[in-house]
Amino acid sequence: MDRTLVLIKPDAIQRGLIGRIISRLEDKGLKIVAMKMIKIDQALAKKHYEAHVNKPFYPDLEKFITSGPVIAMVVEGKEVVDVVRNLVGATNSRKAQPGTIRGDLSNSFSRNLIHASDSQEAAIREITLFFNPSEIIAWERDRFYYYAPDE
Ligand code: CMP
Repeated sequence: MDRTLVLIKPDAIQRGLIGRIISRLEDKGLKIVAMKMIKIDQALAKKHYEAHVNKPFYPDLEKFITSGPVIAMVVEGKEVVDVVRNLVGATNSRKAQPGTIRGDLSNSFSRNLIHASDSQEAAIREITLFFNPSEIIAWERDRFYYYAPDE
């Protein structure tokens, strides 16, 4: 099964949107196989955003992403990289379609609530940056909770 890295960014946490964003992933039928709250330091920010380090917006991006806690998650599902990117919406929230997380909940380019890996290769690299293998739990959906024996 495919996996992707999702970060709920400091703006979403400040705005009290953790639950709503996680619900959007669960509502879609995706499986969370790892999750933790962390504070990203400058070194991790530079590794995570290595493709953007030399861009003019990087200093603001680093200041923002290290400004407060984030929720890091590994999310699993069929074609999950594309599925989550579609659910998240365009990077510039003002251009993100209604119905997407950014389209519904943000009106900002840089404070866009959530990060999701943009390719399989990026997902593998980013998951390794944020999680040890022992922190990722391979769990199965248990039919018991849908068809409890006493019902
Ligand atoms: P994210 O999906 O986390 O990946 C890189 C981030 O850089 C992106 O979301 C935005 O938050 C930010 N970003 C990308 N392009 C720009 C830009 N032109 N101006 C400001 N921030 C940007």
